[in-house]
Amino acid sequence: MKITTSKKMPEKPPNKQTEFGYFDDEHKEYVIIDPKTPYPWINYLGNDGFYSLISNTTGGYTFYKDAKFRRLTRYRYNNVPVDSGGKYFYIREGGCVWSPGWKPAQAPLDQYQCRHGLGYSRFLSSKRQVHCDLTCFVPLGTRAEVQRLRLSNRTEAPKKLQLYSLLEWCLWNAEDDMTNFQRNFSTGEVEVDGSHIYHKTEYRERRDHYAFYSVNSEIQGFDTDREAFLGLYNGFEAPEAVTRGRAGNSIAHGWSPIASHFLEFELGPGETKEWIFVLGYVENPAGEKWTADGGLNKTRALQMAADFDSGEKVTRALAALADYWQNLLDAYQISGPDTRLNRMVNIWNQYQCMVTFNFSRSASFFESGIGRGMGFRDSNQDLLGVVHMIPERARERILDIAATQFEDGSAYHQYQPLTKRGNAAIGKNFNDDPLWLIQSTLAYIKETGDFDILEESVPFDNDPAKANSLFAHLTASFDHVVNNLGPHGLPLIGRADWNDCLNLNCFSQDPNESFQTTENRAGEVAESVMIAGMFIAFGRDYVALCRHRGHTEEAERAERHLQAMATAIDRHGWDGDWFLRAYDAAGKPIGSHANRQGRIFIEPQGFCIMAGVGLDDGRARTALDSVNKLLAYEHGIVLNYPAYTQYHPEYGEISTYPQGYKENGGVFCHSNPWIMIAETLVGNGDRAFDYYTRLAPAFREKHAALHKTEPYVYAQMIAGKEAATPGQAKNSWLTGTAAWNYYAVTQFILGVRPTFDGLLIDPCIPAAMKGFQITRKFRGATYEISVANPAGVSRGVQQMWVDGTAVAGNLLPVFAPRSYHRVEVLLG
Ligand code: GLC
Ligand code: GLC
Repeated sequence: MKITTSKKMPEKPPNKQTEFGYFDDEHKEYVIIDPKTPYPWINYLGNDGFYSLISNTTGGYTFYKDAKFRRLTRYRYNNVPVDSGGKYFYIREGGCVWSPGWKPAQAPLDQYQCRHGLGYSRFLSSKRQVHCDLTCFVPLGTRAEVQRLRLSNRTEAPKKLQLYSLLEWCLWNAEDDMTNFQRNFSTGEVEVDGSHIYHKTEYRERRDHYAFYSVNSEIQGFDTDREAFLGLYNGFEAPEAVTRGRAGNSIAHGWSPIASHFLEFELGPGETKEWIFVLGYVENPAGEKWTADGGLNKTRALQMAADFDSGEKVTRALAALADYWQNLLDAYQISGPDTRLNRMVNIWNQYQCMVTFNFSRSASFFESGIGRGMGFRDSNQDLLGVVHMIPERARERILDIAATQFEDGSAYHQYQPLTKRGNAAIGKNFNDDPLWLIQSTLAYIKETGDFDILEESVPFDNDPAKANSLFAHLTASFDHVVNNLGPHGLPLIGRADWNDCLNLNCFSQDPNESFQTTENRAGEVAESVMIAGMFIAFGRDYVALCRHRGHTEEAERAERHLQAMATAIDRHGWDGDWFLRAYDAAGKPIGSHANRQGRIFIEPQGFCIMAGVGLDDGRARTALDSVNKLLAYEHGIVLNYPAYTQYHPEYGEISTYPQGYKENGGVFCHSNPWIMIAETLVGNGDRAFDYYTRLAPAFREKHAALHKTEPYVYAQMIAGKEAATPGQAKNSWLTGTAAWNYYAVTQFILGVRPTFDGLLIDPCIPAAMKGFQITRKFRGATYEISVANPAGVSRGVQQMWVDGTAVAGNLLPVFAPRSYHRVEVLLG
């Protein structure tokens, strides 16, 4: 089948980059011009509870708050063909049937564009001179997805057309929905009332919620039974009802309920018609579930549909959404010499940070929404990318996370977003977890100056009887390391540290066991040099906080522990040309010259240098040169080298992956910014930026076909140099890569860094970069920062002026809220 691409499109796209699409910076959109992308390229709709995932062919699904327990529409992962199932439309003219997003009908389109924007996706397509303009979004503060669909007749003659909508209801619990068919095929219930189709499975019993799908016009028919609409032996591409040209008006009784509206109409020459569809979620309080005569209480649904029943209302809601995003992004805007850098920093990296904050690792096209809750470690790190945009929500998140910590500082590895309680099935003992709480809390305080958060009373283990101040939680985090040291005085690793797959206390020979939750070693020996680095890096901030608050004794106590850790790294954590990774359960080194494979790992190089170890004696540079020589390649910096070619029970999951993938020699993108930051700490701006460009999606757009996943967001992993498919990415969107890259580029490369007392200006850029401007909103004031680099240096602020007056040093004070200041920075 031949799909028409841009070559035949009426408007020639500006700055077209690849055969698949281009960035439209003015509209903050990525424009896809061929529906057959190398993998489904998706977007996220929704900001606060009600969410949809939507692909460039309108595939995907919708849920409320929890993708497992409140799944509204069905999605089948790893389906054939890929990405089958979504919220679909069929347009029928005579015998010709097509879809605005190409799928599911897959009729060749004369024009196709998918514009993924901030919180909305828009599809512009045409066939036989009928033009369709479909915009899907979740309005702010609304538990509904709105779809505005416009059809225009671009001919001189009238046209008779039909339009069918289609979505498939999921019976709420997405896991149950995929497994428990003996029950599910009998429980499904729907109701049709005018243009409103209600999905009310299990509402008669314990649920206080239902969903609905409506359209703001009269309909000429409907279907709610999948078999009646599709035909038992058809896929989504050619439903029987559409082929026949008439809806079945079916009512589902169990089996697989769907919602489909049927509209039949004429479009005059040049005429445009518009419909607004609303897919909503309604909760009714216990006393209001039923009407007086025992029917479904539809009041809230009708209200929600009425909120978006006109074009003006939808236009207003779209404008409000655009304002919302502009306002968030405005906290940090760069205008620099490279448009790719600008679009990453200003738009896409911030956007991805918000998405990872909202979804943690739960729902993407690689995370099924039924597996993982919120990670303690992941959610803390995600905060690094959003504290400047949504400080209030960050504050709430920090308190939620801290409440899942135990009194000894350890923490549930994951918690459930609906209950906010720790997940006992996975448990604790990932010994890096506690420290991330220090990092996120301090990032929040540096951004906001809200030291009061430290006085908040927060339960341990979600038990209000065990509450203490957030500050006490940070102390517990710090002491968890102090109280869990191994034979070399380095931190015990537990089930794993940041690297989930380095499992030094699980010697598993049973394929049915989990590497992370089956511990069969006491764990008194295996140590992590990475945690040692983290402990110092975040611990120094903890000390600074103690001093800031006048806790001198605690600061001194903590400093002694940091000093001891630095000594332990010097004695037992340095391997000659790089930092060692760990000691295994037998006390043998990992990530050492002594190893045949896995001789060098990325994590301790990043973290020990961020801790400041080796900065004054040359070891930091030596380690970074080793990284450059042994780990870095065209598509990023791999995690370890050489990759393991055999299974090592004593190392765990890391050695289960074929070489070059995931934690075994893949570019685990999350860890690359640690090296970028480390390079800035030794002043190597050229290398830091070079590494940045190897990963940053806008710079990789030229590799779109190879890269496979979306060219506008980071992926968790890019296959490494030893892989069979180097450069190919997997697991896009939900990854700590988003926050860490944002943190590295904005605070260390561009060098605008919040501190307790103000904004530190300390760029470390490529010597050839002549300068850049940044507008930064910080604690309510606006800083208009202009950096000039006439001498072509990488680092070093020679002079700074604030509102025309020369100032000493490179720390900008906290200014009065709503004030505006011009800052000039001369590097040299
Ligand atoms: C995944 C996990 C993260 C972990 C990383 C490395 O991204 O979500 O918690 O640190 O893998 O194993
Ligand atoms: C697996 C994955 C790893 C991920 C972990 C989360 O180990 O390989 O990347 O972090 O699961 O539990």
